[in-house]
Amino acid sequence: MASTVKTDELVFFVNGKKVIEKNADPEMTLLTYLRRKLGLTGSKLGCGEGGCGACTVMVSRYNPSQEKIVHLAVNACLSPVCSLHLAAVTTIEGIGSVTSRIHPIQERIAKAHGSQCGFCTPGIVMSMYTLLRNNTLPTMEEIEEAFQGNLCRCTGYRPILEGMRTFSKSSGCCGALQNGNSCCMKSKETDENCTLQTDFTSRLFDSSEFKPLDPTQEPIFPPELLMLIQKTSTQVQFQGERVSWIQPNSLSDLLCLKAKHPDAKLVVGNTEVGIEMKFKNMLYPVIIAPNYIPEMTSVLHSEDGIVFGSACTLTVLAETLKKAVSKVPDNKTRVFQAVLAQLKWFAGQQIRNVSGIGGNVMTASPISDLNPVFMAANCKMTIVSKDGKREVRMDDKFFTGYRKTALKPNEILLSIEIPYSRKGQYISAFKQAQRRDDDIAIVTCGMNAIFHESTTIVKDIKLSYGGMAETTVLAKKTCEQLIGKQWNEDLLQEAVYHLAQEITLSPSAPGGMVQYRQTLTLSLFYKFYLTVLQNLANDLMDKNIASSLILPAYASATDAFHKDPISSVQLFQAVPPGQEIDDVVGRPLVHLSALKQATGEAIYCDDMPRFQNELYLALVTSTKAHAKILSIDTTEALKLPGVVCFVSAKDISGSNATGPVFQDETVFADDEVTCIGHIIGAVVADTQEHANRAAKVVNVAYKELSYIITIQEAIAKKSFYEPIRKLEKGNLKKGFEEADHVLEGEIHIGGQEHFYLETHCALAVPKMEEGEIELFVSTQNPHATQSHAAKALGVPSSRVVCRVKRIGGGFGGKETRNSILSTVVAVAANKMKCPVRCMLSRDEDMLVSGGRHPFFGKYKVGFMKTGQVTAVDVSYYSNAGNSIDLSFSIMERALFHMDNVYNIPNIRGLGYVCKTNLPSNTAFRGFGGPQGMITSECWINDVASVCGLPAEEVRRKHMCKEGDITPFNQILNDLTIERCWEECLKNSQYYCLRDQVNEFNRQHRWKKRGLAIIPVKFGISFTVTFLNQAGALVHVYTDGSVLLTHGGTEMGQGLHTKMIQVASKVLKIPVSKIYVSETSTNTVPNTSPTAASVSSDLNGMAVYNACQTILKRLKPYQDKHPDGTWEDWVRAAYFDRVNLSANGFYKIPDIGYDFEKNEGIPFSYFSYGVACSEVEIDCLTGDHKNLHTWIVMDVGNSLNPAIDIGQIEGAFMQGVGLFTLEELRYSPSGYLHTRGPGSYKIPGFGDIPGTLHVSLLREAPNSKAIFCSKAIGEPPLLLATSVFFAIKDAISAARAESNLTGPFRLDSPATPERIRNACADYFTKLIHPQDPQTFTPWAVQV
Ligand SMILES: Cc1cc2nc3c(=O)[nH]c(=O)nc-3n(C[C@H](O)[C@H](O)[C@H](O)COP(=O)(O)OP(=O)(O)OC[C@H]3O[C@@H](n4cnc5c(N)ncnc54)[C@H](O)[C@@H]3O)c2cc1C
Ligand code: FES
Ligand code: FES
Repeated sequence: MASTVKTDELVFFVNGKKVIEKNADPEMTLLTYLRRKLGLTGSKLGCGEGGCGACTVMVSRYNPSQEKIVHLAVNACLSPVCSLHLAAVTTIEGIGSVTSRIHPIQERIAKAHGSQCGFCTPGIVMSMYTLLRNNTLPTMEEIEEAFQGNLCRCTGYRPILEGMRTFSKSSGCCGALQNGNSCCMKSKETDENCTLQTDFTSRLFDSSEFKPLDPTQEPIFPPELLMLIQKTSTQVQFQGERVSWIQPNSLSDLLCLKAKHPDAKLVVGNTEVGIEMKFKNMLYPVIIAPNYIPEMTSVLHSEDGIVFGSACTLTVLAETLKKAVSKVPDNKTRVFQAVLAQLKWFAGQQIRNVSGIGGNVMTASPISDLNPVFMAANCKMTIVSKDGKREVRMDDKFFTGYRKTALKPNEILLSIEIPYSRKGQYISAFKQAQRRDDDIAIVTCGMNAIFHESTTIVKDIKLSYGGMAETTVLAKKTCEQLIGKQWNEDLLQEAVYHLAQEITLSPSAPGGMVQYRQTLTLSLFYKFYLTVLQNLANDLMDKNIASSLILPAYASATDAFHKDPISSVQLFQAVPPGQEIDDVVGRPLVHLSALKQATGEAIYCDDMPRFQNELYLALVTSTKAHAKILSIDTTEALKLPGVVCFVSAKDISGSNATGPVFQDETVFADDEVTCIGHIIGAVVADTQEHANRAAKVVNVAYKELSYIITIQEAIAKKSFYEPIRKLEKGNLKKGFEEADHVLEGEIHIGGQEHFYLETHCALAVPKMEEGEIELFVSTQNPHATQSHAAKALGVPSSRVVCRVKRIGGGFGGKETRNSILSTVVAVAANKMKCPVRCMLSRDEDMLVSGGRHPFFGKYKVGFMKTGQVTAVDVSYYSNAGNSIDLSFSIMERALFHMDNVYNIPNIRGLGYVCKTNLPSNTAFRGFGGPQGMITSECWINDVASVCGLPAEEVRRKHMCKEGDITPFNQILNDLTIERCWEECLKNSQYYCLRDQVNEFNRQHRWKKRGLAIIPVKFGISFTVTFLNQAGALVHVYTDGSVLLTHGGTEMGQGLHTKMIQVASKVLKIPVSKIYVSETSTNTVPNTSPTAASVSSDLNGMAVYNACQTILKRLKPYQDKHPDGTWEDWVRAAYFDRVNLSANGFYKIPDIGYDFEKNEGIPFSYFSYGVACSEVEIDCLTGDHKNLHTWIVMDVGNSLNPAIDIGQIEGAFMQGVGLFTLEELRYSPSGYLHTRGPGSYKIPGFGDIPGTLHVSLLREAPNSKAIFCSKAIGEPPLLLATSVFFAIKDAISAARAESNLTGPFRLDSPATPERIRNACADYFTKLIHPQDPQTFTPWAVQV
């Protein structure tokens, strides 16, 4: 569009300050504007698609019809900056600062230990802030609802909720026995359990210290803005490089515009259009914003229902309907209640606050949640254009094709009428998704039955489904069959029979899960059938219906998903009574960056201010899994505005070969690509937007080659990285011969995306001298980042400095894979001789950087009738992807954990590392341990099942004892597993609970509960011996302040805090005198990655040694002036010319292992823990609820119980994601479908167990690590297998109803699809799976 078009000034307020933007770009989001133009970097970019909440800000607007100011939490990443005209924005910076006044929310989230890496924290604070601006005393339910759109990958959510509970009316448990010993859960537990032992404490924070919330202190809506709003009434227009944004102020203007620009998009919330422009590469040159047109935002009450202007937001829709439901008789509001049921699980608050009803209808998405209800209720819609008005019903003719409606291009949807229901009408809505909160539907439906007056005879019925075709569909034929029939068992049979014929899917249907989706159509109808039956019984007061047709056990099918607010207990050993107050080791010290993180003042890589001459880089990656590159055509890209150059293998002055262990990778693909996402080159441009646009038009021509995607394909083609790993103990042959039974089984364990909230980011700054370059990188591995860049640049490592302030989560994903990006950025900066930056978008990050290895475990177990296992033979196959990376070490760790905590006399494990054409998989918390261990839990479960023994009995029977020898010939000493086990049994009252679960299952046919208690042993050390070393550097300045540096990076795990605690204890000075600025390769060289849970052990000892050196040097001055202060001694030493800088070094002694020979000692020691979990599944939908979890963990003498409990809970929830929720879905040709929070679901606030009880084992000092502590980062992740096996236990109970007994295969994650399919019943039998040989599925198990 020509630049001569008029453009208005965009005026809005940010944190009370007026912003006037003369060149507002409609394509720019508010988040980009805040971060880039205003330098407000507190709001974070976590996904750019409204799915993580890291960018949440509060938008306040004056609502003329309500004559009030409304405050809304919104996603700044989806809000076009132009939509903010005459609005007030409050960001995290606007509510508090560590340098002035910190807001009570910021204080409480930090002090309640609710901020680890801190990348999610500003967004969570702003969601809470908005809630409190609207409601100063919310309930816990309201708080949890406010967080539906926020994600955190570190904390496990519990501490955030406990911190925010302090603002609430408080419901559920009191939390952590904070009121003395009188826990409100006490009634559920015996006194013995609930009463604290004297040296045990549960006080992780003291809420009496918190500043009160004073609403009068909050900033007011700017009076100047109010005046501006009242004065302004004209149309405004903003013109960008490619898009114009027009905000008409009357309906007639809007209709004229639509007539003039029939292809124009009407943007209300931009939650669809924004996604299309960003991810689907769509360009809409004209955007019309109808938000200020009264007819489009009005709510009118008619005789037949409520008429909503199509630009009404979903929040307005929900509030209006809730009000009506509370005032109008129940039988009139059943449609409203069905809409509300859908809205409860519709996106998160931030999305509902902005997205319009019209947007949902007109997007015409086949998985829209509202359209099935609107269609079932036959809602009336008013459509207008310049030529006139018409009314249509939402019926089977409204949606004309995939994302198409019956509206003509010049027409718009003006309003929609949601009708009142009438007597004898019953309507329900159901939505099944992977995750409850903030997820799009797998299948969603609206069902509406109308009966002849006072009868059970169907007068009319509409069954409408989403997710079962390319549009929302009506099951017309089925409905026709049901009209005139009695609502009884016959009708049910007939309905499900016809539905199974009518609502079908191609076996290749997009979205996959074909059998599950079809089963759901029947199961959901069954739920509707029973719900209506119950209502008929009530309304007709017909006891015959109730008693004859609804068995009490069957009523459980109709219970809506409901979760109680969480309650939690954390128990840890208090420091001994005599411990000095300044000795902070063992105390729950708050993460030392937490307050800064909560105010948005903590700086992450992309928050660093931009250099004036800085350029931005965007990757060009392969779209083929395996191919020869024939040509790369950059002509079109280089012509685009702002583009500076294209970087590729030709620009590497050093070596293009790279890789963490083996040099089997390239920085840039040279002539061949080996996975989708393989980096081919990069475009460098003046801005991110220009670089991204240009990267999309680089044209690569390929010659495709054959590829391998799945483990099964790799097995068939024997595509393995050599050598095959083997670990063996005892005599396998003899073991199997002795056995009464031999059983074989399998499990596939899906991969996992790290989903650190901060994606990979790198900034390279060339120093213009001798090849020097400085790299600021979000990495766990500064040393490898440095050396990889040096190698590619062809300079010695001494010319490259890598600096890391903090990273927004790593979890192993930034151990090796970050250097793909940082090396590329370094090469570009070297070429252009100016700073170059790149932060991957979430979808790029998920595409290129790999994740946890998918594993396939195949086992054979020999055992006696008593349940005694005599032999186990297990083969592991991992999907390593297109390079080796760390896959051998990961496979070795899987083998090290193949026995979990069990002593099996004859055992063999084989490890095959499969070479495939997926992006290289890599380290992830647990490092193969979880995959190794869950397989062992499968065979032990199977043994129990065959022998008819309780699983916990078989587990207990095999548990290792002091002095036992592992398959890798390490003697087990200082074993605490039995203590953890006994304590966990006691805390959970396991046997009592088992009885309750059995009783529940007897009384419920369609809901089943399951219980499992699982022990974990985790070996601590890098299994590559040389990595078990660390360095530290301590500078003491003449004012007494101490700058501490060590080899570990801070990624939220509280490492710097723990290291400061160590230094403080050794130097005997307060924590406040010690500062950690960053991790850098020019202070501590040759560091090992921050990984393998050992960073506190290794760096802690290095810090200890460095501090001891300083202490020794100061001793003479201390001795001379025993009454002096630290500062006195430091000054005296300085003037005496004493070196006040010392380095420290540490290596773990006496370890080293040879895998080939099975000789040596791989681990310094072991961490132990036990978890017991109880779950409830919905047998008809596959949904599950985490009811309770008890964890007992041995962390030795905790350095910091708050941080350790944070690690336990965070790892546990990440494990819950791994084993029950997170599913990477690849096409058969290796394309990753799930590339963002919209399609890949990590646990949200709603997924944490209803009660979470964590206790640290007391009196368990560990002589092998600093101050008798133990490593904690990874082991608790494995405890989440307790949830997996509790689900399996519940499924067993469901299968028993269909007379299915004995072992069965359940792959991980235990998703709703897998749970439902495993709960075989009458409905699953009606759906016949297609022969897999006859079609190409949408997704394959890799
Ligand atoms: C994180 C996230 C979660 C989501 N979760 C859900 C979910 O749980 N369930 C679900 O169903 N959807 C979900 N969505 C999809 C989306 O939020 C909804 O469809 C929403 O209602 C769209 O409204 P909007 O105002 O943002 O649409 P916009 O993006 O502003 O517009 C969408 C489309 O509608 C057209 N349009 C809008 N109003 C009119 C009108 N009056 N007349 C004619 N055309 C019009 C526009 O031209 C455009 O094509 C989600 C989206 C995101 C980003
Ligand atoms: S960055 Fe906006 S929601 Fe994720
Ligand atoms: S603290 Fe929430 S993502 Fe790291």
